[in-house]
Amino acid sequence: MTNNKLWWKNGIIYQIYPRSFQDTNGDGIGDLAGIVQHLDYLQELGIDGIWLSPIMPSPDVDFGYDVSDYHTIDPKFGNLQDFDRLINEAHKRDIHIIMDLVLNHTSDQHRWFQESRKSVTNPYHDWYLWRDPNPQGGLPNNWLSHFGGTAWEYDETLGKYYYHMFNKHQPDLNWRNPDVRSMMLDIFRYWLDKGVDGFRLDVFNNYYKDKDFRDNPTRKGFNIRKFDSFEHLYDTSQPEMIDVVKDIRAILDQYPERYVVGETFMADSAHARTYIGEDRLHAGFDYAYTHSNFSAKAFGKAIQYWDALHGEEAWPNYFFNNHDTERSSTRFAKGEDDSILKLLAAMHLTVRGTPYLYYGEEIGMRDISLTRSQIQDPVGRYYWPFYIGRDGCRSPMQWNAQENAGFTAGKPWLHVHKNYKVRNVANQSNSPASLLSFYKQLIQLRRQHPALNAGSIKLLEAPDKDLLVYERSAEGERILVVLNFGKSIKTYQLPTGEFNQWELIFVGNDAITSHMSENNLHLPAYGFGILISRSE
Ligand code: GLC
Ligand code: CA
Repeated sequence: MTNNKLWWKNGIIYQIYPRSFQDTNGDGIGDLAGIVQHLDYLQELGIDGIWLSPIMPSPDVDFGYDVSDYHTIDPKFGNLQDFDRLINEAHKRDIHIIMDLVLNHTSDQHRWFQESRKSVTNPYHDWYLWRDPNPQGGLPNNWLSHFGGTAWEYDETLGKYYYHMFNKHQPDLNWRNPDVRSMMLDIFRYWLDKGVDGFRLDVFNNYYKDKDFRDNPTRKGFNIRKFDSFEHLYDTSQPEMIDVVKDIRAILDQYPERYVVGETFMADSAHARTYIGEDRLHAGFDYAYTHSNFSAKAFGKAIQYWDALHGEEAWPNYFFNNHDTERSSTRFAKGEDDSILKLLAAMHLTVRGTPYLYYGEEIGMRDISLTRSQIQDPVGRYYWPFYIGRDGCRSPMQWNAQENAGFTAGKPWLHVHKNYKVRNVANQSNSPASLLSFYKQLIQLRRQHPALNAGSIKLLEAPDKDLLVYERSAEGERILVVLNFGKSIKTYQLPTGEFNQWELIFVGNDAITSHMSENNLHLPAYGFGILISRSE
């Protein structure tokens, strides 16, 4: 990539769930040394950054999203030396490291919380959100936990309740306390000084809650989850957050080429966009695309909207998968067939924005099924059988056909998908027709063409509801992408005129049927073509 390119903008970011990537010491849990082992693989895949789900010490009530010490590495993953090594080895390969910062809440095992609950005069008492029972006795207000039940947990010793948006073992910090705020900002500097290239902020728009703890109004209509029966006016997205976002950005701007992306919680695309900008976060996540139906129209709409919200001033990103969502392969593909996944990847890697990939997406890993007793995710345990939780998308990476897919020599913390003997990295590396080979080729194409990795996007009117068509352009280069979301053969008439001499540079899903005749592009079921204009 040339020097005027920015890794996080023109490149690709790959999320690793460290627990499930590669175990090197046989304890059944992935570790940092395991990630180092596979950096060559990731370099060959063609990614520019890795986002690591949390690696700080955690009692694992929410698998790392309950942090008990912000200044070191969880021993099950390694230590600070291992982390240094990971950063150095990644940097040697032009791969950047993004850390997950979970600063809305801590673990209840964190020393600060332990102190906080000792007495109301303890210097840490005010670091968390303690409230008296309401005068009639009972809960301080009607706020609920996203993970189920009330958001208030009673503490016998203090005779007070503390607030938790997530599990009761994840008490929310009191960001209105100046010591909390400055400690949190120091955590950014601490890891930046260690050479970290960026951060993903966990549920950052939740840091502040209404200072008067007003009741949330109820919402009309029927909702399976009681949590959804309220307008979350007062327990999330408070205006005070914008200032913190600016402080965070100012810290990052003191270091070269750093990046911060925010997970906006319970917010629509337009609200998520308000936190992004020159003096704010570099990027935020959008769920409209992730949760879109499988149709050209629905994806086109989500892309157009998110893209327009960013305009020239900001740069969108897109993700299909993460550690909280059922994999897109499970949602969209039929059986073990990957043709739909190739179509989606062709879109994902050619829209304007940074594509995020989630480990295993490149080989089409599917969610595992779990019985009630196998569920480890606290959310799945609470909501089962209405919702089985998030373990399905967190199963061990499938490296090869050996026992446990080469993930561990011990007993994996979560079972491997039963398709691993066929669906694994080793097999797919040796097959030119595999999904993995497809990703590698397409990623290389994306890297070669400024229109794809840096250009603007214009959605074109399509003559058929199953076709999604857009043009990307940059530096005098124009690329046309035509995607067929339908089950039947489609013909697309290419735009004509003196600047429209199209050459087909990439086709997918049945290269024999995909072809051009005169100015028509013929595409089989789920076929697609990428064309370049040779006339300028
Ligand atoms: C975010 C994380 C999720 C976690 C929650 C609480 O949504 O992505 O995994 O459970 O925050 O930290
Ligand atoms: Ca291990």
